[in-house]
Parts: sequence; C-alpha cells; structure tokens
Amino acid sequence: MAITIPDISLNDGTTIPQLGFGVFQIEPKDTAAAVTTALETGYRHIDTAEMYGNEAEVGEAVRMSGLDRGSVYVTSKLNNGFHRPDDARKAFDSTLAALKMDYIDLFLIHWPLPTLYDGDYVSTWKVLEEFQRDGRARSIGVSNFQVAHLERLAAEADVVPAVNQIEAHPYFTNDEVRAYGREHNILTEAWSPIAQGKVLDDPTVLDIAGQLDRTPAQVVLRWHVQRGDIIFPKSTTPKRIEENTRIFDFELDDTAMERITALNKGEAGRQGPNPDTFAYVPR
Ligand SMILES: NC(=O)c1ccc[n+]([C@@H]2O[C@H](COP(=O)([O-])OP(=O)(O)OC[C@H]3O[C@@H](n4cnc5c(N)ncnc54)[C@H](OP(=O)(O)O)[C@@H]3O)[C@@H](O)[C@H]2O)c1
Repeated sequence: MAITIPDISLNDGTTIPQLGFGVFQIEPKDTAAAVTTALETGYRHIDTAEMYGNEAEVGEAVRMSGLDRGSVYVTSKLNNGFHRPDDARKAFDSTLAALKMDYIDLFLIHWPLPTLYDGDYVSTWKVLEEFQRDGRARSIGVSNFQVAHLERLAAEADVVPAVNQIEAHPYFTNDEVRAYGREHNILTEAWSPIAQGKVLDDPTVLDIAGQLDRTPAQVVLRWHVQRGDIIFPKSTTPKRIEENTRIFDFELDDTAMERITALNKGEAGRQGPNPDTFAYVPR
C-alpha cells in the first residue's frame, strides 16, 4: 500500500515532507542500499551531513532511484571545522559536489559551537544566507541552536532559519527550544526521535503500543507527528524502514499524548551532547 507523507510549509514558502530518513551512523558502504530501500518504501526526504561521511552515497542512491531530483528532499549540514566564511563556502561546494547535485533543499549549520570561533556563529549564518540567495540552497536552517543562539541570529541576521534541528524524544522533550521555534516560525526537526531505540522498551510506550496494536517505534514517531515536528528515524533494517512509515493511519488521543510527554526527564534525558558546551571538531 502506497504511503502518503504530509508536507509541512516552511517560513520561506517551500515545503518539506514531515517524515524523512536519517543516515547518521550508516557506514558509507551501506548507505546507498539503505537509502534505496527508503526511497522504494516511499520516503522522499533524506537527512545527511558532511560529518556523517556518506553524502556521496546518498546522492548516488537518489540518482539510481530514477526519481526526479525535484521529488526528493535532501538536507545536509556544515561540519564543525568549517565555520569561518571562506571555509564554509568551500565546504558547501564540496557538499554539492559529493551529492552531485546543483542545489540542495536544506542546508544547516550542524552545531552552534558557542565556545569556538570567538562565539561567532552569526558570520557563518550570513554565508548560508548567500547560498540561499544564489539559489544553491532552497532553504537554510540551523541545528542544535539553543534559545540564546536563535535570539542572537534574530538580532544580527536578515533571514530567520527555516528549521532548527534539535534532539527531541519522550525522554528529552526539549520544549523550551521548541516553543521559541513555534513563536518565531522556525520549524522543529526532532533528531534521535526514538532516542536511538532507548525509549522503545519504556513501560508506558509498550502499554500504549499494546492498546493500539502498533509497535513502540510507531507510537513514539506518531507522538512527534502530532506535536507537529519533522522526523527522520534511521534504520538499516528494511522491515523497520517500512514500519516507521506506518504512522499516518492512526492517532494518539490526548491521554496517550500526555502520558508520553510526561516521560520527559529534562536534561538528564539528553542522549547527545549539550549544544552550549559541545566543541568537537573532526580532524
Ligand atoms: N543534527 C544533529 O546533531 C543530529 C544528531 C543525531 C541525529 N541526527 C539525525 O537524526 C536522524 C535520526 O537519529 P538517530 O539516527 O540518532 O536515532 P533514531 O532514529 O532515534 O534511532 C535509530 C536507532 O533505532 C533503531 N530503530 C529504528 N527504527 C526502529 C524500529 N522500528 N524498531 C526498533 N528499532 C528501530 C535503529 O536500528 P537499526 O538501524 O539497526 O534498524 C537505530 O539503532 C539521524 O540519522 C540524523 O539524520 C542529527
């Protein structure tokens, strides 16, 4: 049965499929096959990054699919070592070259790195504004930006990010950053939507899944969809790649939504690094 994935409107007039496919921690040698399975299953949105080392394989799978370039939404991200404007320009050229694409749908600053580059992520953002102006990035956004970082962009830059891609899942709902996004027309993309599998054996999630005759992953992904966030779960398991698309034919009622949201552990629930202090630069 074909799946229909809703499109969501961004603040720049473009749209993005609410469900995509993430390729973090997929080995380059396995990436084309995983993306091919995802595209065959009906995904039309792939989330990669220069840091993941598999942009070329994502581009290869999109080309091999025979789908029109315009029907597949591709996101990539600026790696942490390239925040200086000239480096960012070269890195963006390299991303397009690796993908073998002449434009990208969405390009993000991967991390704000407020303790590096003299705390200057604004001049980096202004370079992304150039990529949007010259048409090579249809949309631009940020990732792992905290409220203070977004406030600074609002004060010092021209373009409001279309999205902010942040860690969010039932153990870390990240609602303060999400609320800022909602108020300022910045869509939230929730990374590690199932906390890399760690929320799937939670008793509350299992209980709701049992009641609805759905899998725990489907219940948690559906919770994100009803919160209005964009998600791109990662899997290299074909059965799960398919399972994760079956989230648009059922609903969680208010009680189920609230029970899942109540699993939030705040900062203790974070799986990844805190963006205020994260300062990793790959060598
Ligand atoms: N901007 C950032 O800083 C940032 C950081 C992290 C992630 N991301 C993005 O977000 C995407 C998703 O996050 P993520 O990869 O960290 O984690 P995730 O999607 O929350 O979880 C992936 C893990 O869950 C397993 N899994 C997937 N579907 C499942 C299912 N239906 N049942 C049971 N297990 C399942 C996968 O196993 P198998 O593969 O073995 O099936 C994998 O181990 C990434 O791929 C990346 O695109 C962005």
